[in-house]
Amino acid sequence: MKVTVVGAGAVGASCAEYIAIKNFAAEVVIVDIKENYAEGKAMDLMQTASLNGFDTKITGSTNDYSKTANSDVAVITSGIPRKPGMTREELIGINAGIVKSVSENIIKHSPNVVIIVVSNPMDTMTYLAHKATGLPKNRIIGMGGALDSARFKYRLSEALGAPASDVDGMVIGGHSDTGMIPLTRIATRNSVPVSEFLSDEKLEEVAKATMVGGATLTAMLGTSAWYAPGAAVSAMVQAIACDSKKIFPCSTFLEGEYGLNDICIGVPVVLGKNGIEKIVKINLSEAEQTKLEASAAAVHKTNGLLEI
Ligand code: 2OP
Repeated sequence: MKVTVVGAGAVGASCAEYIAIKNFAAEVVIVDIKENYAEGKAMDLMQTASLNGFDTKITGSTNDYSKTANSDVAVITSGIPRKPGMTREELIGINAGIVKSVSENIIKHSPNVVIIVVSNPMDTMTYLAHKATGLPKNRIIGMGGALDSARFKYRLSEALGAPASDVDGMVIGGHSDTGMIPLTRIATRNSVPVSEFLSDEKLEEVAKATMVGGATLTAMLGTSAWYAPGAAVSAMVQAIACDSKKIFPCSTFLEGEYGLNDICIGVPVVLGKNGIEKIVKINLSEAEQTKLEASAAAVHKTNGLLEI
């Protein structure tokens, strides 16, 4: 299994580190435009191999995509992160051009690749990669829901006083401060609905904190978060590499599913060796469906800013 990670910034390097430590990939190539930066990150990470006990070979490349040839999965984290007070959508002007050229460079050397887009505004960048590469829809995946669901489980575990490993919950919709939909109705604590433990008001508080989880950290850190985004995308890479058939909420191109068309937005999918093996239809409540349609309308609006 060969994985390319484009962007040697905090998210990309964290993703590469988690992939290496999980030891399921033979090779990880990190690419960055900054001279020797990816090479330096790769060397630093390789110097942890004996300490963290992994055999994965991590190398770096300064914008030479020939080094990424025949990758099975490519993760796109390149582009600028948001600053405090910014929305993800405000990054489109700079990040769209970067994601388009990176996607084209990746498929030039790896025609059978599965691409996972992390760069923001992620749903729109996933849509752009889909249009720019012409890859089949199962091989273009956006990472947002996996991260948002991890934040949802964190907030639920805090409210429940339970370990996050005992909690299950999913966030669907757009990866945006206002478009995310934490599905409190079906979240569970070890198979027991969380509504058995938490009031509606508390669940509303948990959902709200989840939706601004990224912005909360950006305000604290002065830049976008990186550990949880890196961990979330590495879990998706692992599910593809190991053909796990696990369900993740991912941004995927919809053609009528959930009543939505010509959009990439977060819905539950089965991940396996073919990327998106299946889009999973869950029964949403009327209120959840209404929120999803509103979220989709916002993503369509942002997509309209693309020049493709
Ligand atoms: C986040 O929510 C970077 O969009 C990512 O932290």
